[in-house]
Amino acid sequence: MTSTSDSHHSLRGLGAAAALAGTLIVGPASAAAANDASTDRSAGDNAAPHLAVSESDFDKTPNGQQIARYHLTNRNGMAVDIITFGARIQSITVPDENGKQADVALGFDNVKDYIDNQSVYFGAIIGRYGNRIAGGTFKLDGKTYNLPKNNGPNTLHGGTQGFDQKVWAASPIDTGNAVGVELTHFSPDGTMGFPGNLAVTVRYTLDNNNDLRIRYSAVSDKDTVINLTNHVYFNLAGAGSGDVLDQVAMINADQFTPIDKTLIPTGKLKPVKGTPLDFITPTPIGKNIHADNQQLKYAEPKQGGYDFNWVLNTKGNIDDLAARVTDPKSGRTVEMYTDQPGVQFYTSNFLDGSLKGAHGNTLGHWGGFTLEAQHYPDSPNQPDFPSTTLKAGEKYTQTTVYRFLPE
Ligand code: BGC
Repeated sequence: MTSTSDSHHSLRGLGAAAALAGTLIVGPASAAAANDASTDRSAGDNAAPHLAVSESDFDKTPNGQQIARYHLTNRNGMAVDIITFGARIQSITVPDENGKQADVALGFDNVKDYIDNQSVYFGAIIGRYGNRIAGGTFKLDGKTYNLPKNNGPNTLHGGTQGFDQKVWAASPIDTGNAVGVELTHFSPDGTMGFPGNLAVTVRYTLDNNNDLRIRYSAVSDKDTVINLTNHVYFNLAGAGSGDVLDQVAMINADQFTPIDKTLIPTGKLKPVKGTPLDFITPTPIGKNIHADNQQLKYAEPKQGGYDFNWVLNTKGNIDDLAARVTDPKSGRTVEMYTDQPGVQFYTSNFLDGSLKGAHGNTLGHWGGFTLEAQHYPDSPNQPDFPSTTLKAGEKYTQTTVYRFLPE
C-alpha cells in the first residue's frame, strides 16, 4: 500500500512539474517543492514515476469555454487523463508485461471530435439514464414523463444532450494513497424530460494498485430515475491497434437480459449457458461473435457483435470480480469490480474505420469493448428489475473499479 510519505513525495514532484511544464499544479506541497525536479517524470526519463495529479488546458468548446485535463499518474507508470467535457476518461496509459506503454482507452484529442461524434460516447459519464428507456417514456408516482428519442423509438444514454455533452466543474483530489479529480454537474428539473433538480458528483481516483475507481453520487429534490455509468472503450493491445476479437473475456454472470429488435429488454432473465453470451469461462471475444443466434443479430445485424446487459452474479458485492478481459499478446488485463447489478458489454459494433481517434488512430469495427457497470436497461418500465427510482432527498451512490494488470 502507499504510505503518506509516498504521496507527499509525489506532491513535491508536482511542484517541479508545474515549474517545467507550465501547468497548474495542485496539492498542499506544490509551491514549496517547485525546485525539486528530480522526482518528477517530466523532469527527465530517468526520474521515477509516482502518485501525482496535475491540471492543464485540454481544449475549448466552440463557444470558448475552457476544458481542463487532469493527468493522474502512479508509481507503476500508469497514467489516466480525465477531461471536464463530459467528465470523460480521455486516455489510460498502462505498461504491458515488458513495460511497454499503450493507451488502452479510445478517445479523441480535441473537443470538436467529441461533439461531432457524440454517439460514440468515448469515455463519458452517461446520465441521467445510461442505456435505453423504451419508447422514450416512463411513469413515476402516477405521472408520465416523455424524453427525447435519440435511438430509433427509444431514449439512449440520457437523451440528445446527456451528461456526456456537459462541461463539468472539477477539482483535484489527493487522499494520501490515491490521486484524482472530483467532477460536479447540476442538472435542472426537466432536463431531457427527467424530473427533479439533480446534483451529481463523480470522483475518479487512481492508486498504486492500478485501481481506477469511479465513485458516483447524486441527489434530487423530486422523485426521479437515475442510472449512471461510464462508457470507456478498452483495447488492451492499444487503441487503434486493430480489433479486440482475440482478447479474452470473463463475465461473472449466469444470466443476461434478452432484448427485442430495438434492444429493449423483454423483461425476462435468460441463462447464458449454451449461448454465445456465455463468458463464465474465459473466452476470446471473437470466438462466438458470428454464431447464428437471434440475440446476436438484434445486437449487430450485419457483422456480429455483443451489446447486452449481463446480470452479474456478484449481486452488488464490489469485492467479487465482475468481469476480466486479457490481451494474451501484451498480457495487459482489466478487471471490473462494481456494486451495480449489471454490466453492458459492448463491442463497438458501429465503428467502421472512418473515425480517427487521438494519436491519429484509426478506429475500426470491434476496435474496443465497453464494460458499462449499470442497472438493467429500461428499468423504469420493468417492474421486475431492480429499481432505478431515486427518492427526493435520498442519495444515489455507485462505485465501480477498473483494475489494470500487470501491476
Ligand atoms: C449501447 C449501444 C450503443 C452504444 C453507443 C452502448 O452502451 O448499448 O447499443 O450503440 O452505447 O455508443
